[in-house]
Amino acid sequence: MKAVRYHRYGDSDVLHYDEVQRPTAGPGQVLVKVAGTSFNPVDAGIRGGYLTEVFAITFPHVPGIDVAGTVAEVGAGVTGWQIGDRVVGLLPMQDDGAAADYVLAPAEVLTAAPRSMDLADSAALPTVGLTAWQALFELAGLRAGQTILINGASGGVGGYAVQLAKQAGATVTATTKPATADRLRQRGADRLIGYLDYSTPLSIEGQPFDVVLNLIGTSPEQTAALAGIVADGGFLVGTMTSGPEDSRRAVRTARVFVRSDTTQLADLVRRVDAGDLIVDVADRRPLTDIAAVHDAADTGHLPGKTILVPSDQ
Ligand SMILES: NC(=O)c1ccc[n+]([C@@H]2O[C@H](COP(=O)([O-])OP(=O)(O)OC[C@H]3O[C@@H](n4cnc5c(N)ncnc54)[C@H](OP(=O)(O)O)[C@@H]3O)[C@@H](O)[C@H]2O)c1
Repeated sequence: MKAVRYHRYGDSDVLHYDEVQRPTAGPGQVLVKVAGTSFNPVDAGIRGGYLTEVFAITFPHVPGIDVAGTVAEVGAGVTGWQIGDRVVGLLPMQDDGAAADYVLAPAEVLTAAPRSMDLADSAALPTVGLTAWQALFELAGLRAGQTILINGASGGVGGYAVQLAKQAGATVTATTKPATADRLRQRGADRLIGYLDYSTPLSIEGQPFDVVLNLIGTSPEQTAALAGIVADGGFLVGTMTSGPEDSRRAVRTARVFVRSDTTQLADLVRRVDAGDLIVDVADRRPLTDIAAVHDAADTGHLPGKTILVPSDQ
């Protein structure tokens, strides 16, 4: 089979499209024939060697933490999956990923894929959908009637966060570039504003917010400014940063570290099939283009959520 691999950390040119042996499902594992994987910023972070303290990969490594595909083999002790079943999942980040014709997945990370959409495109759901879910509901405890500011809403996580927050009954303000404003309005954002300017104290219509979800890297000063527009008793949750706490105003803060949760992923799939959650895919590329996709991400030119499809699909 074919797989994208890298043998050392580095720029996108470390990614090679190799002929490798097809793996076999061991106990507790499922071999998935990959229909699609999606690019996530963490793929480039791991490849670049920026996350060695968090994810202990071994070389050669196959990237691609999101998988959508069909069950090809079921290992000993696995129940509930049969050959041909359509599945999606967030794979363990230190293991070999889904930028390949086949990938081994622990059975417990897989969920039945949405029936109402293209299987390859459903690889756009697990990592970013779960990140939004865990940030909004597990950490920040967002509930009906609250207000939320989503900073950096135009990306993968932001698209789901806007939809989930709106469906939870929150009033949603989102920062975005003009090109994605219409899409986010359609997804449920109540108020859209441009990128924040931190050179003067933040003054945003609707502040203070019960929850601020920060999806971009911010300096300590910028993060503190975001904490300053959280309402008393509210929550600042970030994907790249957290803090500072403000115990005087009971403002709490946390950084999300996404993990596989098949109950949550099944809930996201159910929403997709019910027509309540739109999976936005900006581009679909052959897996052989993976270096160009990493390059575009490294230079800030990725058009949005990008699906990579193996050549034998
Ligand atoms: N901790 C975790 O578990 C976890 C999980 C998932 C993601 N993350 C991280 O969370 C971040 C978001 O993930 P993602 O998948 O949504 O990434 P993404 O698809 O690359 O989205 C990031 C978005 O932020 C926008 N942006 C950049 N600068 C901005 C600014 N100053 N103000 C407002 N928006 C701005 C970008 O728009 P442009 O097109 O203008 O650049 C882009 O659309 C990434 O850094 C990712 O690594 C962390």
